[in-house]
Amino acid sequence: MFLFSTKAELQAYLKTFRDANKAIGLVPTMGAIHNGHLSLMEQSLNENECTVVSIFVNPTQFNNAEDLEKYPRTLERDKEIIKSLSEQIVIFAPSVDEIYGGNTVAQSFDFDGLENEMEGASRPGHFDGVGTIVGKLFELVSPTKAYFGEKDFQQLQIIRKMVQKLHIPVQVIGVPIFRGSDGLAMSSRNERVSAEGLQKSTFLYQVLLKAKELFKSESISKVNAFVENEFKNNSNFELEYFTIAEEESLKTATDKKVDHKYRGFLVAHIEGVRLIDN
Ligand code: PAJ
Repeated sequence: MFLFSTKAELQAYLKTFRDANKAIGLVPTMGAIHNGHLSLMEQSLNENECTVVSIFVNPTQFNNAEDLEKYPRTLERDKEIIKSLSEQIVIFAPSVDEIYGGNTVAQSFDFDGLENEMEGASRPGHFDGVGTIVGKLFELVSPTKAYFGEKDFQQLQIIRKMVQKLHIPVQVIGVPIFRGSDGLAMSSRNERVSAEGLQKSTFLYQVLLKAKELFKSESISKVNAFVENEFKNNSNFELEYFTIAEEESLKTATDKKVDHKYRGFLVAHIEGVRLIDN
């Protein structure tokens, strides 16, 4: 395993790959590595000669100082987990100063309105922070391919939009949601839920599966009503939102149009923890 904390060291290492025209895969993360992250790394290992995993808790994407402070920082553990997947992976774990050089601010982006939907509505400025760090990583690593999880589908679409608008020469790869055997989507936040709460949380995937089935034959308003009712009858969860949105624009859909793809997005709270799935 290779671990670099400065841009200069990373670039010196990558130079041999770049000079030989070898494919470089980039997996941006904020650490607290779990099997969901590993599924992105595995795909990158299969498709590239070199895989770079960045571990950086990016301050500019947090709109809440307490959230930023509380975010788990477990580099030693992360290194061991990544090493057990592959000794070939390059970890880039820089300091905030190394990345932002004392100017810890986000750039402003225009993602054609994608940034205002769903997660953007409840977390103002969040996607500017994400665009800023991912843009910096793209510039630094010049990856052939970059991997993002469909778990954060809005983030994935926003990165695609950024790459397209700014003509960044990278292929953005969306990786399906990695779930536990019970269907619960892997997330670092799951660690904050009790064992009992986690068992109950399989409910989220069950509801999504039923909604997907209903969507085939019923109107969007019927599907919405079904999901809302399921949550009304389950006192373990507080539903923040369920919305069926068109995949390209991420706009909430009211009726189905042919040749458009739709996805149901869910945010719910259990034991004070905010879980997201789609
Ligand atoms: P983080 O939450 O650490 O997630 C890193 C990547 O792993 C993201 O692309 C996310 O969608 C993906 N991921 C997380 N859980 C997953 C799961 N269960 N299945 C599939 N993919 C999963 O997302 C971020 O970090 C940051 O915003 C980042 C892009 C690194 C920018 O700071």
